Amino acid sequence: MNESSPIGIFDSGYGGLTVFKEIATRLPQYDYIYLGDNARAPYGTRSFETVYQYTWQCVQWFFARGCPLVILACNTASAKALRTIQQNDLPKLADPTKRVLGVIRPTAEVIGQYSKTKKVGILATNGTVQSDSYPIEISKFYPDVEVHQQACPMWVPLIENSEHNSSGAEYFIQKNIEELLNQSANIDTILLACTHYPLLKNKISNLLPEGTTLLSQGEIIAGSLVDYLQRHPEMETRLSQNATMEFYTTDDPVDFDNHAPNFFGRAIKSKQVQL
Ligand code: DGL
Repeated sequence: MNESSPIGIFDSGYGGLTVFKEIATRLPQYDYIYLGDNARAPYGTRSFETVYQYTWQCVQWFFARGCPLVILACNTASAKALRTIQQNDLPKLADPTKRVLGVIRPTAEVIGQYSKTKKVGILATNGTVQSDSYPIEISKFYPDVEVHQQACPMWVPLIENSEHNSSGAEYFIQKNIEELLNQSANIDTILLACTHYPLLKNKISNLLPEGTTLLSQGEIIAGSLVDYLQRHPEMETRLSQNATMEFYTTDDPVDFDNHAPNFFGRAIKSKQVQL
């Protein structure tokens, strides 16, 4: 068994920990490296080119650490960087069998199964909404599903500043939920299409009409990774299985360790990395 072939999990900051938590629960046997690019977060307000440059730099860091598989556990990076990395960058690598997967396509693959009215709502960062990645991907699997998007630009800063339980946060949560629901009657399925938003799940649930399904991505992405590894034994057999986890941040590790339990559900110890 190769001792240093972990799965890389990437996010602009802390949010990807909500996805990692579910992946580690479903697949505890593998080795993992998590990297949060906190020094340059948030990504949600940045241009396509900038998000691509930052994400590709981080992906190369994972590759240099021996990861054959990297998950972009960030909707903004998946929306703005994944396609270019998959189509232009990976084929040019010395080892073109390395893989990078995102969170949008696996979510699009299943979301139509949850909606009876065929009207779904997407709550996300500005960047993810502007990319139109969700409407485009969902239409490939469910052409009859109507997709309504709502950008929630204040939610990530509120969460990152631990203000998401304040009355100020309630104002912005209610405002954006109303804006989404006003787009169409009968939206019966709403996706938290940003890795930070599971921290607001209870608050959002309380504002939704009865019977609305509120989905967070962690479980969906973990299930999709289980499936991917079953379908790709050539990748699965490359991954080392010592059940280890390492956490890295591009910013202050003390700050990262203080915030991480909110997202990961338990204490962790991170190290700083200079890219
Ligand atoms: N993690 C990002 C996402 O899922 C949100 C945070 C950011 O804007 O950097 O879209």
